[in-house]
Order: sequence, then C-alpha cells, then structure tokens
Amino acid sequence: MRIVFLLCSFLSLFFASELITPLPLHINYDKSKAILGKKLFFDPVLSKDNTISCAHCHNLQEGGDDGLEVSVGIDGKLGSINAPTVLNSVYNIAQFWDGRAKNLQAQAIEPIHNPVEMGIEDTKALLKKLKNNGYEKLFFEVYTDGLSLKNLVDAIAEFEKALITPNSRFDRYLKGESILSQEELSGYELFKSIGCISCHNGILLGGNFYQKVGIYEPYYADENLGRFSVTKLEEDKYYFKVPTLRNISKTAPYLHHGKVTSLKDTIQIMAYHQLGRELETLERDLIYKFLLTLDGDIPEILNEK
Ligand code: HEC
Ligand code: HEC
Repeated sequence: MRIVFLLCSFLSLFFASELITPLPLHINYDKSKAILGKKLFFDPVLSKDNTISCAHCHNLQEGGDDGLEVSVGIDGKLGSINAPTVLNSVYNIAQFWDGRAKNLQAQAIEPIHNPVEMGIEDTKALLKKLKNNGYEKLFFEVYTDGLSLKNLVDAIAEFEKALITPNSRFDRYLKGESILSQEELSGYELFKSIGCISCHNGILLGGNFYQKVGIYEPYYADENLGRFSVTKLEEDKYYFKVPTLRNISKTAPYLHHGKVTSLKDTIQIMAYHQLGRELETLERDLIYKFLLTLDGDIPEILNEK
C-alpha cells in the first residue's frame, strides 16, 4: 500500500501543475429550485421542535460549518463527528466523511431524520407542517408534482450546488495572475514536493477519494472507523474522504473528530502521520500561508432573494 502511495506521490510531482484546477466563476443551476432550497436551508421548520435549520450547523458566511468540535442538534444533543463545510460540496465524490451518501439529495435526508440533529420521525407530519407554513404553493411553482420529500431534498441540493466559492487568490494564480507572494509560492512548492498534493488535489484539493488516516504513523484519535462503516471491508478501517482545503482558514476545528483547533498543528499532524516527516517551523508556516490563499468569494446566491 505504501509503495503504491509513494509511486502516486512520485507521479504527482510530474503532473502537479494539472493536479489542482480552479473553481469556475459561475455554475449552472436551476434558479427557482435553488431559491426554494435556500429558504428551506435556513428554515428551522425542518426540525422536530422548529429550532434547528441546516444553517444552524452550516454557517454559510463563516466557512459553511459550525466552528464546533462536534455539532449540537435538537434539545442540545451532541453529534459524534465534526461538521464539514457545505461550500463547494457539489464537487465531492460522495457526501459525509465516510461517503455514505452518494449525492447531495441523498445527504439532505439524513440530518432531517437524525435524532441528534433535526429529529424528524415522521415524514408525513413534516410535509404537513411544511404545508401549514405556506410551502405547498411554493413547491407547485417549481415542481409540477408539488410538495414531497423527494422535491424537498432536490431543492436543497440545487441550492447547495450554487454554494461555490470562486476567485480565491490561489485560483487567480492558477489562471495566470502573478498574485501570490514569494512565501505563498514557496508554501505551494512545499505542498507539492513533500506530497500533500498526492491526496489534496483536484478542484477541491480533496473530496475526490478516500484515504487512510495514519499511513506512516498510526493516528487513532477516536473510535470512528470511517469508510469501514459503509463497506465493512477490513482494509477500509480508518479511511476517510480526503477533505477539501478550500476556505480551510474558516473551518476550524479540524479533522473528522474536530479535536485540533489550530491549522498549523493540523499541518504538522498531516506531515507526520500521512507523510512520515516532521516539518521545520518555517516549512509549516509557509504551507500555512499557502493554505490561506484558498479562501474564495462568498457564494453569489446568498445575496439573491
Ligand atoms: C446538528 C448539526 C447539523 C445539521 C442541523 C445539519 N448538518 Fe449537515 N452535517 C453535520 C455533520 C456533523 C456532518 C458530518 C456527518 C458525517 O460525516 O457523518 C454534516 C455533513 C453534511 C454534508 C456533507 C459534506 C461533506 O463534505 O461530506 C452536507 C452536504 C450537509 N451536511 C448538508 C446539510 C443540510 C442540507 C442540512 C439540512 C437539511 C444539514 N446539513 C443539517 C451537521 C449538521
Ligand atoms: C495520504 C493522504 C494525505 C496526505 C498525504 C495529506 N493529507 Fe491532509 N488529510 C487527509 C485525510 C484523509 C484527512 C481527513 C483526516 C481526518 O479527518 O481524520 C486530511 C485532513 C487534512 C486537513 C483538515 C481538513 C479539515 O477540514 O478538517 C488539513 C488542513 C490537511 N489535511 C492538510 C494537509 C497538508 C498540509 C498536507 C501535507 C503536509 C496533507 N494534508 C497531507 C489525507 C492526506
């Protein structure tokens, strides 16, 4: 496994320039569905006691997550894993840390029913509640078959599709602008040369496959077995979806368990456990500066009514 990984790292050095691609400035989406999805995303009516909306745990102005180690749902119940960002999530190979939802539609059903998140037990009752809150008309305006769970998650997914954060300084660099400082460029060079890019690549610098946490040095910070819980394959133990690094400065605390509050510490953990090396403070700080160039614009749809 390590040999395959080393080979990949080695190959990636040669193709590094194409390994990361910028986000598009605009993405095509169905605006009327997305605007309905936006309303739903911010509406606590989707929870059992009308207190928790999707936005409660995914603050779209602040990195698309909740800034907590683990999320807090209805009745103050604690979840068991760190909330990832929803920004740019349309590009993920699958949703959740263990990839158990194949797309955004499938994902959206889970928090609604999750007893420690929004806690809805009865879908019919939820649809009735939505009807009482004026949603029936809104759904008929957008979907010929009106209000249903399928259309509900479809509208939310369409909104999430629009949540891209283009125009980061790094993307502008990729498109040819001389916009990065010498230190930021050196950080990017290190990111490539030591092999971070072998896992964090593609349009999200992550999100496109699963990798083991603790390749070189075991890293067991909690009980979570990652991808194993989906596939039940022994070799998938401790594999997680490689998370995106876009807007990473805004999504502390880090890792699936959310136990690491500092981005600089996370970089060291990655270098040690995933690449078998201890970084000099200077190297760590250069990579840190590079990572800060990945903050993009707030999605346009947040300003639309
Ligand atoms: C109580 C907090 C909470 C609420 C409410 C919540 N989420 Fe999440 N969300 C999380 C957590 C925690 C995860 C990670 C769970 C996992 O991977 O097992 C997550 C994961 C996701 C992901 C996957 C991102 C990725 O990179 O894999 C998406 C997309 C998402 N949520 C969207 C939504 C939508 C849409 C709603 C509303 C219907 C919602 N969330 C409600 C906490 C929350
Ligand atoms: C072998 C693949 C691999 C390599 C190499 C790798 N990472 Fe990661 N990275 C991952 C995985 C998998 C996770 C998720 C781990 C977890 O949550 O337990 C992750 C998580 C992260 C996170 C936290 C993201 C978040 O949202 O919590 C950061 C930051 C990060 N990596 C940066 C780096 C840097 C910088 C390097 C190079 C020093 C690097 N990674 C090398 C696979 C890798």
